[in-house]
Amino acid sequence: MGVGIDALHFYTPRYMLDLRLLARERAVDPQKYLTGLGQEWMSIAPPDEDIVTMAATAATDAIRGVDPHSIAMVLFATESAVDHSKAAGVWVHHLLELPRTCRVVEVKQACYSGVCALQLALPYIRQHPDKKVLLLTSDIARYGLNTPGEPTQGAAACAALLSASPRLVAIEPEAGYYTDHVMDFWRPTYLQEAIVDGKYSTRIYLTALGEAWAHYQMESKRALSDHARFCYHTPFARMAQKAHERLVSINDSAPIAPETLARHINASLVYGKKLGNSYTASLFISLASLLEQTEEDLSSCRIGLFSYGSGCVAEYFSALVQPGYRRHLATDAHALLLSSRRPLSIGDYEQFYQYALPQDEGRHATPRHRTGAFRFQGVEAHERLYERCPLSPAHA
Ligand code: HMG
Repeated sequence: MGVGIDALHFYTPRYMLDLRLLARERAVDPQKYLTGLGQEWMSIAPPDEDIVTMAATAATDAIRGVDPHSIAMVLFATESAVDHSKAAGVWVHHLLELPRTCRVVEVKQACYSGVCALQLALPYIRQHPDKKVLLLTSDIARYGLNTPGEPTQGAAACAALLSASPRLVAIEPEAGYYTDHVMDFWRPTYLQEAIVDGKYSTRIYLTALGEAWAHYQMESKRALSDHARFCYHTPFARMAQKAHERLVSINDSAPIAPETLARHINASLVYGKKLGNSYTASLFISLASLLEQTEEDLSSCRIGLFSYGSGCVAEYFSALVQPGYRRHLATDAHALLLSSRRPLSIGDYEQFYQYALPQDEGRHATPRHRTGAFRFQGVEAHERLYERCPLSPAHA
């Protein structure tokens, strides 16, 4: 019996920053961002959106028509936690009015934790094929203003409904993983922005890819040529291209031809180029992008997936695309969402960036902006308050 992803929906905030505008403002050649990083836009969360509202909006679409009593677990992966104690998934569980007979937990290891949650959920589904797991990945990537990391910010959440006999992709049991204690990127609990040694992080990413692939190959006995397409954790599109070039070079002495590189990964990069780094959600959004933006029918194809979380933990695993998957994609809704975002001026972007609620016991309301199906209202006595918005994200 196959287990894997039955539905895959993402949500990204309704505001975006054009990297050409950012380049001009920072006196950088725009080609550095557009070609050097391979990015065009980044989504920017307004003050009344956070990882909870983004994940709840994505999940609303992923569980539409599903018996809520079949959802036995909500796993929430993030590195932009809103509380040191309470799992963000408990707010989502409440906002979605899921039954109380449900386990909810938050998991963390930089951008990797969503894949770990996926792998931990699958044996449960094999044991309980009538149950489903709601896997949420949600992050707001933040680096300091005017730093090299600034053009690699972004924000999004992805909701993957995991089930037996999945309609989209079945995850294969073999996987290769790798852990090493490195300080390439991290965020102490008292900081709002990540500390990053950017160039070092790109080198470690590639080392971890080689190691995770070697482990996967040992476990699966498969060759690279057994994979038809590839999805990578994508902090920026050039990183995924470099990763794929590295993976091919490990397996083949000849460099990959540009058209093969394009066929292998370009469709997976379409969404990420428009919304930026979404940390834990990034690999799942690459998968959605690949399935939705590939013209050819990928039924029965094997996809290689690589997750990297700084610090670091990495995993290479594979998935088989299920026949008929195209009927269950959210291509139109995602297109509408992306096309309905509003461009921000530099001034508005910096205002969103610098917005912070007071940290006292008072009641503080956030200003109202365009959001998804839920919004973060503010805090009262240190409690975060959320509300449902009447209109769906694509039509608001
Ligand atoms: P930088 O120092 O600004 O950029 O930082 P650069 O000088 O390395 O230039 C970037 C590329 O643009 C280079 O290409 C340049 O040649 C090119 P490359 O040589 O690498 O192929 N370039 C140009 N191209 C065309 N026209 C031009 C031009 N000028 C330069 N005029 C860096 C780049 C990625 C380091 C920075 O943005 C950063 O620190 N980002 C954040 C860290 C990051 O994304 N790391 C990725 C790996 S770690 C990871 O993925 C985990 C993460 O998602 C978090 C987690 O797991 O929790 C980050």
